[in-house]
Amino acid sequence: MRNRLNVSVRKAKSEAGPPTPKPPPELPLCFMLSHLEPEGPVRLDGLKLSIIELAGLELDEAKLGAFAGALNACDFPLQLLVRQHPPDLNRLRRDLTEAQPKHLPERTRDAADSARRLLAELESRPGILDRRFYAISEREHAAELRGVLGRSGLTLQPLRDEPLRRLVIAAALGGTPTERDPDEAAEVTIKRAEFELDQDLQRSLHLVKWPRSLVPGFLQQLMSTGAPMDLSLHLGPIPAAQAARQLEWQKVRFESARSLSLRRGKTLSPEAEIALEDVSRLRNDIQRGRERLFHASLAITLHAQDPEALDELTQRASAHFAASLGQLGPLPFRQREGKLSTMPLALNAVAAWRTLDTSSVARCFPFSPPDLDTRSGALVGIDLRARAPIVYDPWDGTHLNANTAVLARSGSGKSFATKLGVLRGVSRGVVAYVIDPEGEYADLARASGGRVFSPGVPGQGMNPFVIDRADPEELLQRIGSLRRLIEVMVGERLSAERRAALDHALASYYASPREPSGFRDFYRFLESDDPEALAKLLRPFESGSLKHLLSDDGDDLLKHEALITVFDLHLLEPELRPAAAMVCTETVWAAAARDPRPRLLVVDEVWSIMQHPEGAAFMVSMAKRARKHRLGLQFITQDVQDLLSEDTSRTITGHSGRALLQNAAFKLLLQQDAAAIATVGDAFDLPGDLQRWLLSCPRGDGLLLAQGQRFPIRIEATPEETDLIDWRPGQQTQPDQQKGTPS
Ligand SMILES: Nc1ncnc2c1ncn2[C@@H]1O[C@H](COP(=O)(O)OP(=O)(O)OP(=O)(O)O)[C@@H](O)[C@H]1O
Ligand SMILES: [Mg+2]
Repeated sequence: MRNRLNVSVRKAKSEAGPPTPKPPPELPLCFMLSHLEPEGPVRLDGLKLSIIELAGLELDEAKLGAFAGALNACDFPLQLLVRQHPPDLNRLRRDLTEAQPKHLPERTRDAADSARRLLAELESRPGILDRRFYAISEREHAAELRGVLGRSGLTLQPLRDEPLRRLVIAAALGGTPTERDPDEAAEVTIKRAEFELDQDLQRSLHLVKWPRSLVPGFLQQLMSTGAPMDLSLHLGPIPAAQAARQLEWQKVRFESARSLSLRRGKTLSPEAEIALEDVSRLRNDIQRGRERLFHASLAITLHAQDPEALDELTQRASAHFAASLGQLGPLPFRQREGKLSTMPLALNAVAAWRTLDTSSVARCFPFSPPDLDTRSGALVGIDLRARAPIVYDPWDGTHLNANTAVLARSGSGKSFATKLGVLRGVSRGVVAYVIDPEGEYADLARASGGRVFSPGVPGQGMNPFVIDRADPEELLQRIGSLRRLIEVMVGERLSAERRAALDHALASYYASPREPSGFRDFYRFLESDDPEALAKLLRPFESGSLKHLLSDDGDDLLKHEALITVFDLHLLEPELRPAAAMVCTETVWAAAARDPRPRLLVVDEVWSIMQHPEGAAFMVSMAKRARKHRLGLQFITQDVQDLLSEDTSRTITGHSGRALLQNAAFKLLLQQDAAAIATVGDAFDLPGDLQRWLLSCPRGDGLLLAQGQRFPIRIEATPEETDLIDWRPGQQTQPDQQKGTPS
């Protein structure tokens, strides 16, 4: 049967004028589909449906309990559908190509090309699957269903229009929802035990015998066998009175069997005793409203490219159920019924029901942790548990802020992960600044056509003293930042009087009618009225050994913004680096305030700034405000313990390390030190197994904490990217030796 699956969304009457009746084409007919309306599909029998996409089904007792509560409140038939298929990253690749700045240097362009190839490779890498969850009900119950599921803490996305059309076509033809030509014809051949849809071989199966007891996450193990599939659980609630009657009857049956046995001098078999106990317990729970009974039916449609692969997947799925004494059965000559049952049609065409209680149904879920894939931004890594790409854009406005904290032991790949982020950001036009105490980012910047400044070297001074005075709030914040900067420059804690005098001097300087032009200008202003002798403390920066750090015309540095700017501090004395880092941060902030757009500011070895109380206050306030000007801060540290310690005598920062982390929407924890793991585990509330894993995981693996979830992540770079990131002078000439898969 070769035919078109032309399911266009029919607009509501008011929008499109009088509807033109059109006979339904043959292929939708085969799928029991009459047509699509903007808010849901309409079945051939006229039943109107609504489809909700669900997210946030995580394996934890509290959430499972809430989900069971939601199911208890469902008084109408419901279909839960899970689809897992190779991801379609086509759009992301296209967006990345479009966002790529023109005139990238050749090696950066090669790296960007290779990152897109990596995305293409991920689409066909075995085991990498895109997993989506849906709930389908009759449309008249849609609002109720949204209410019930929403209260149980799930994130809901009712599907309509184009996303709805894509899902329905994908559910019919196989694969993840994607853009398809609506007039493209599809060929369907239905055989005895499978059917072919174009290149896709599909086989529907159903659960003939349910396992006696369902362990939490029971279906998750099935999903993680890595088989592309559509799995559907149809539920029909049984009214409580009827359920109680049914159980009462069963109980009576068991009890009379028992008394009969006793009269004959025998006891009931252990199995029958257990069953009697189960029935009595369940009857009580139902009467108390804690449980309810459902008719349940489970069907699966597996997808493969060839018959051998399909047989292998079938075997794997059957073995999964057999291990818990269940049985997955074939559907000979009933493949169409099986397929219909796994489509979002709320239709159980297989019609093999079995009775389940609420907890058992809830325990089938969660199928897997949610994945972090927003299909926009750049590839960050691979989710090792969900086996899915981790793709997000920190600047898309959906996150708390665009800040990332990277915490890990030395040599665990912090800088590597950061450089990779910088490179992938640059390839899509995100401007990056790096404060680099070790001078290890300069090579990357030079190779990518960026700039390297060495603050402290003549002619490379910076000017954070230019402030846009139009915004009073901004002015107040910046004066606070400059005061903290000056305190760190001075290198000692100022007395209360001196601090007040400094504050006053800054405020009067910016309140005076003449245009503030820079540090030296401020210095002269300070000298003119300086009861606390502050100018003396700042003299080294004006005319002494540090006079090249700040400049009155350094403001121009940011006029012609390069894609990457590295502030290389490794030539400075270590005691001066915190002040220099703050000067650079302030200068980048000034640029961000003038022209907000997605910018990344990397502060490596942030600990060196955080050890000064004023530096710590400066960083925390920067992290809090960064979002305002679309600046994403990325702070890196290996001194996890000092940063996180609650013990104020141990560190000078007190709690500001934790405050800094609270202002990072993303936290990347790579390998940890045995000495620090307890502190890390406590600060991030990590269970013991994850703590142990962080001690032993390979370099480049770690945990990403975002959106209240934990994602085990692998940072994976292509050979071209690795080449650029790990590049050292004198190393670049032998590309052949550089190739090879990164470990
Ligand atoms: N994800 C990765 N894939 C491949 N190689 C990696 C990865 N992460 C790190 N490496 C390798 O490990 C080396 C050390 O990593 P990196 O310099 O990033 O560690 P670090 O945590 O920044 O260390 P330090 O604390 O000393 O700054 C890198 O030069 C790189 O070759
Ligand atoms: Mg490093």
